[in-house]
Amino acid sequence: EWNPGNVIADQVERIRAQVGDARVICGLSGGVDSSVAAALVQKAVGDQLTCVFVDHGLLRSGEAEQVEQDFVASTGVQLKVVDARERFLHALAGHTDPETKRKIIGREFIRVFEDAAREVVAEAGEHGQEVKFLVQGTLYPDVVESGGGEGAANIKSHHNVGGLPDDLQFELVEPLRTLFKDEVRAVGLELGVPESIVWRQPFPGPGLGIRIIGEVTQERLDVLRAADLIAREELTRAGLDREIWQCPVVLLADVRSVGVQGDGRTYGHPVVLRPVSSEDAMTADWTRVPYDVLATISTRITNEVPEVNRVVVDVTSKPPGTIEWE
Ligand code: XMP
Repeated sequence: EWNPGNVIADQVERIRAQVGDARVICGLSGGVDSSVAAALVQKAVGDQLTCVFVDHGLLRSGEAEQVEQDFVASTGVQLKVVDARERFLHALAGHTDPETKRKIIGREFIRVFEDAAREVVAEAGEHGQEVKFLVQGTLYPDVVESGGGEGAANIKSHHNVGGLPDDLQFELVEPLRTLFKDEVRAVGLELGVPESIVWRQPFPGPGLGIRIIGEVTQERLDVLRAADLIAREELTRAGLDREIWQCPVVLLADVRSVGVQGDGRTYGHPVVLRPVSSEDAMTADWTRVPYDVLATISTRITNEVPEVNRVVVDVTSKPPGTIEWE
């Protein structure tokens, strides 16, 4: 009979058998898969595991804290946080082309992660230990899919914790390889991973960097984070989190329109709400969010985020529109 307790007991045994007393490294993204994989390995081999979290500054409000505080508190994992926010802003400065932005973010991410991995390897070496293993949150559908190749791969270059340099050769530990997403969530909850992480909706690796249409700057990130937080709060309050696959909030940073806010005329930016319903993100329909919920989101964003004076809803299915705008 399938239950999360059995899966955990079985995987803990397998991980211990695979890893022995070697050291293990894991990259955390803040998403469900890497978090649950890390929590399983932590349960199996404890402090032999070091997790690395690259804060690229493109996460939503509260997400870095979820990893740095909640995840650590609930699992006891050893975490190395790399604050790379300045570095990413600098690398992205002046760039507006979506694919260029994606490539820059992917490239910087791998460089920062590699440097951190080298440091972890060096620190372990000082204690006479060798880092031999890398944890990956590969799920069963990923295993199946990688046989065929992803159809959408050429539409946008996807970014994930991926290839490592030749001088870092790790053997992979993939404790979620036999599991589907709902099973991963059940295992995560059983392990005590916070619900905010276990139930997190999909969020792209390049983060808010591809939800600012135009150049990414600190000010624009702050504006988008504020608007996004309001949308998430209200959708959660309305009980729509399970019905909605994800709801990107997009800042049209190079578009301005005239408005009246407070005491006078404003010339601000629009944000787009992009709520979608989907099974697998390959196709999607726009979610019919109740008008009163949309009204509350719109009122709150235009009241609380002075740079935004217009809220619009994207009513395009996928295809033809992709879920993300870039
Ligand atoms: P699109 O925009 O292609 O997105 O319809 C499909 C799904 O993939 C997510 N997405 C990404 N996820 N790295 C990721 O891990 C990426 O580079 C990336 N780009 C898009 C998107 O949020 C949606 O769930």
